[in-house]
Amino acid sequence: MRAAVKVSALSKRFGSVQALRGIGLEVERGELFGCIGADGAGKTTLFRILCTLLIPDEGRAEVLGFDTVTEYREIRRRIGYMPGRFSLYQDLSVEENLHFFAMVFGADVEENYDVIRDIYSHLVPFRNRKAGQLSGGMKQKLALSCALVHRPDLLVLDEPTTGVDAVSRREFWQILQRLKEQGITILVSTPYMDEASLCERIAFFQDGRLLGLDKPSGFTRLFRRPLFSVKAQNKHRLMTELRKFPHAVSVHAFGGTVHYSESRPDSDPSEIQAKLVSMGVTDVAVERIEPCIEDTFMMLIENNV
Ligand SMILES: Nc1ncnc2c1ncn2[C@@H]1O[C@H](COP(=O)(O)OP(=O)(O)OP(=O)(O)O)[C@@H](O)[C@H]1O
Ligand SMILES: [Mg+2]
Repeated sequence: MRAAVKVSALSKRFGSVQALRGIGLEVERGELFGCIGADGAGKTTLFRILCTLLIPDEGRAEVLGFDTVTEYREIRRRIGYMPGRFSLYQDLSVEENLHFFAMVFGADVEENYDVIRDIYSHLVPFRNRKAGQLSGGMKQKLALSCALVHRPDLLVLDEPTTGVDAVSRREFWQILQRLKEQGITILVSTPYMDEASLCERIAFFQDGRLLGLDKPSGFTRLFRRPLFSVKAQNKHRLMTELRKFPHAVSVHAFGGTVHYSESRPDSDPSEIQAKLVSMGVTDVAVERIEPCIEDTFMMLIENNV
């Protein structure tokens, strides 16, 4: 079976900004594929090329077997796109938005209701409310319903959960799992590492380049150094002192704690603790931990492999 998305040597420049620098990747049919990377890494540019809204400068992209430049009409009928900022018409009601998007695609809401029932049922009690007056989580469900109403084979979701509360985010990912089970391929970008780890594979972008592409477990295996979670009363001071350690490789704030890695394979938490105490850092606790995806990405960005 052909890939759902096939991209090779793709480049795109905006004036002096090189947004994509020779990207190559494939997304398999039926896959839940995540794209992550810092602001300006090129994720939205890639998505817009795949959705036929931008023409690449170099390279080519195929979506569902069609070329994004020459066969864009075929692609547009077969994909659902949820852009980063809500695509909804704020002055139209929930129901009017849904019917509008169905009409654009020549689709029938009743005929395709089975695809969106799971999501749209949450919105039925509010069907006459203007989209602009919905909560973030509800807007997101409506935007997803609108992107799905024509039964696309591929869903492209650009940061669909940014600015949405934690409960709605969890619900949204459960919905994505069910859509995947129905055979829909999903390409999604997210700034949240916990969401990235729910994808089957993740592409990690940095400054227009693809720094890595693997399963979440593959990424975390890249982190081979001993890693510690370190706490102290004064986090700023703690970080300053850790950076002075002769074997220090990385020192990053992680919520209330600091993640610290060393170049020595045999580092010992109690030794690190004793050293910090001797430097006058108070209330120190050191624990050896397994790396999460975010640790690996920080490592890749800093080229500390
Ligand atoms: N239409 C445009 N005109 C000029 N520059 C652009 C345009 N679109 C994107 N860029 C620039 O291209 C680079 C890549 O942007 P892009 O939006 O693809 O990144 P992103 O990974 O989606 O970032 P974010 O996480 O902030 O959404 C950025 O430097 C951005 O400023
Ligand atoms: Mg973006």
